Amino acid sequence: MNDTFLKACRGEKTDYTPIWIMRQAGRYLDQYQAVRKKVDFLTLCKTPELAAEVTIQPIDILKVDAAILFSDILIPVEAMGMNLEFHEKRGPVMTPAVRDEDGVKKLSVPDPEDKMKFVMDTIRLLRKELSGRVPLIGFSGAPFTTATYMIEGGTSKTFLNTKRMIFQAPELYASLMDKITATITEYLKAQIKAGAQAAQLFDTWGGIFSPGDFKEYALQYVKKIIADLKKWMKDEKIAPVPIIYFVGETAGLLEEIRTSGADVYGVDWRINIDDAIRRLGSDAVVQGNLDPIAMFLPKDKIELRVKDILGRASSARGHIFNLGHGVLPETSPDNVIALVEMVHRLSRKDR
Ligand code: CP3
Repeated sequence: MNDTFLKACRGEKTDYTPIWIMRQAGRYLDQYQAVRKKVDFLTLCKTPELAAEVTIQPIDILKVDAAILFSDILIPVEAMGMNLEFHEKRGPVMTPAVRDEDGVKKLSVPDPEDKMKFVMDTIRLLRKELSGRVPLIGFSGAPFTTATYMIEGGTSKTFLNTKRMIFQAPELYASLMDKITATITEYLKAQIKAGAQAAQLFDTWGGIFSPGDFKEYALQYVKKIIADLKKWMKDEKIAPVPIIYFVGETAGLLEEIRTSGADVYGVDWRINIDDAIRRLGSDAVVQGNLDPIAMFLPKDKIELRVKDILGRASSARGHIFNLGHGVLPETSPDNVIALVEMVHRLSRKDR
């Protein structure tokens, strides 16, 4: 197996810097669009044969060093009892928005092998179809980012309803977060049991907080999930599966993030990665951090940025190359193919 990605996650020496790309399966690929033409997005997520097919597309096309399960962070939200729809223009819409005690009470902590069996079936199928070519990453939204969608009922710019609940009804917020945290813990255990070889927690909106509020209202729940998973893997004698914690707008929160217990820290592009490493500690393993819109530069300019990041990241115990956030639908696949080739070539030559 190409285990370069897993070795890097563990901080072991690798022959080159591994790369995968957040949202590597998706609309920028014609091959994805061809599958998506036949079914809507949620049906795609819920049909293991199709979800596995689009998961593998970027492995064949881009030659990345890891596969990431094709699904969405909102799948557990539906499983908890909310109605979920994806609209072409508005994005995801969840109803009714959770705003009061009654709303929280109605939510369940689902058995993942019952309510989200299609995810575990996709993972089991993928492990067979990948047959060891590259490792498979499972994922979940982190509790806070998941909560924003449940409280706002969709995507938001100001997160007013979420922050209002936090500041005006902290006990209500805590009771919602307890249910989400329990759901995500069970969901990730089920993914690992089904065969996920690493797991990423996406805290896309964590950066809206001051460091103190981030610690209190987002991080403590992530810490609990990671600690529970690690204890569970130990008790069940499951070989440790690396946990990656990605936070959007990472820069103001690094001192907090490094207490999360994660094995790998995802870093966005708003900070130089060597700066992030200095603040995380040189024993840290980092993932990132090219600006997704740098993919719109000519290839020679992309190459300069790749070199820069590889150089800066050499101060870390381990580095996994990635964009600082998901690849955009307007991106040229040709440039992404070139990016993967550059990272492989330049990191080999550097060492
Ligand atoms: O990385 C991968 O390739 C795996 C698949 C994946 C998707 N979403 C597929 C998807 C992953 C890991 C996600 C995570 C996700 N989903 C996040 C966190 C990461 C991030 O990018 O910040 C968030 C916030 C969501 C919620 C979500 N899903 C939104 C807001 C939207 C609509 C906006 C958009 O980008 O389309 C989605 C839809 C979605 N999730 C699509 C894909 C490929 C597009 C659906 C389509 O085909 O029309």
